Amino acid sequence: MKKVSRKSFILKSGKLTAAAILAPITLQAKAMGLQDNKIRVGVIGCGKVSKAYLPHLAKSDVVELIATCDIIPQRAQEAAEEFQIPHHYPHIDAMMAGASFDLLVNLTDMQEHGRLNQIALESGHHVWSEKPLANSYKEGRGLLDLAKNRGLKIWSAPVVVNSPQFAFMSRAIQEGKLGKVAAAHGHYGHRGPSWSAFFYEPGGGSLPDLGVYNLATLTGLLGPAKSVVAMTSTITKERTTGDKGKITVEAEDNAMVLMEHANGTLSHVQSGFNYFDPYGHEGSGQNRPTISIWGTKANMNLVGYDWAPFGVDMATLDNRETVRYITDAGTYLWEEGATVIAESMAKGSEPLIDPEHALHVLEIIEAARKSQETGSRIDLMSEFPYPLV
Ligand SMILES: NC(=O)c1ccc[n+]([C@@H]2O[C@H](COP(=O)([O-])OP(=O)(O)OC[C@H]3O[C@@H](n4cnc5c(N)ncnc54)[C@H](O)[C@@H]3O)[C@@H](O)[C@H]2O)c1
Repeated sequence: MKKVSRKSFILKSGKLTAAAILAPITLQAKAMGLQDNKIRVGVIGCGKVSKAYLPHLAKSDVVELIATCDIIPQRAQEAAEEFQIPHHYPHIDAMMAGASFDLLVNLTDMQEHGRLNQIALESGHHVWSEKPLANSYKEGRGLLDLAKNRGLKIWSAPVVVNSPQFAFMSRAIQEGKLGKVAAAHGHYGHRGPSWSAFFYEPGGGSLPDLGVYNLATLTGLLGPAKSVVAMTSTITKERTTGDKGKITVEAEDNAMVLMEHANGTLSHVQSGFNYFDPYGHEGSGQNRPTISIWGTKANMNLVGYDWAPFGVDMATLDNRETVRYITDAGTYLWEEGATVIAESMAKGSEPLIDPEHALHVLEIIEAARKSQETGSRIDLMSEFPYPLV
């Protein structure tokens, strides 16, 4: 596959004009409809993940938290009180009609992302969305087109490509340190979320919740996938959840995805909600690799989870002794996405996170479901600017 540089892709896809790339920061910020270098943020969905996002956003000099919203109004109110946010709403319509802000941060149930992201864009807001961006590739593509037509931006988690460990691995591959890259593997699982039923309802599942991290890492490192073969299943048929009590599990909770990249490179991702993991949901203390890449001259392993990495182990033809690199993740945190986007909006710079990459990962997840349904190999149509680093 022909490599497309990040800048030429951005120009080709019309995401920014050459003038915009070269324009002074303040002009770009104005072009995005920002009045000053503060980004006014509204957060919708004040559940578990908001407990990590809100403190991170609140610490940023460029972020001004304007509003919270949740269909459980008490959650929106409590979050607003805790972080001294002036407005809180029980419904997105009230939020859109209320105090004005620039960036909607969408932390709601996965199935609600596409619908709410669309309402936000139609009301003139930029969007940072938790994963997935939408419920289908088609819906996601529609959102990107809508954003472009309105002069707005939409981005989506995960932010695994922001870690220094990802950068190290990407450079090692691009510099040829691994020789010809043949194969890669990623895995991520735990015993499944207990607090909300949406993880197990149609549109949920381990792939959009957990596999999405490895899919973003491996496509980010190896390039867009051309085709996918997958099997998924449901291991635990019933669960007890915090919000709906006992439920029948309808989405997959066990997934294996094989991807074909350029030049014959093959990779594999497994995710599930039935993995006993001694490190638990938070992954504290995980010291083993979860991402492995094999080439003709070296192998490379990402230590810890890709969303919270501790280092990169590498052994080469010249030095067969494994060496651990990049043991410091710097300021990188998995919950930094919305803050990093707000900061790049304020500076008028292009973030590393790319919505076309998020859309490609969404297409892979959809293709994996289709491959399971049909028993066939599914060709993909989307690409993204590669390499990212
Ligand atoms: N929990 C985590 O550790 C974690 C980590 C990373 C990413 N995520 C992602 O974050 C998202 C939310 O996960 P969570 O664990 O916080 O779930 P959660 O159930 O704890 O929170 C979701 C919140 O969204 C609210 N909500 C749902 N529909 C809404 C609507 N239409 N309008 C307003 N509010 C609405 C719910 O009432 C709830 O308070 C998911 O996409 C998940 O994959 C979660």
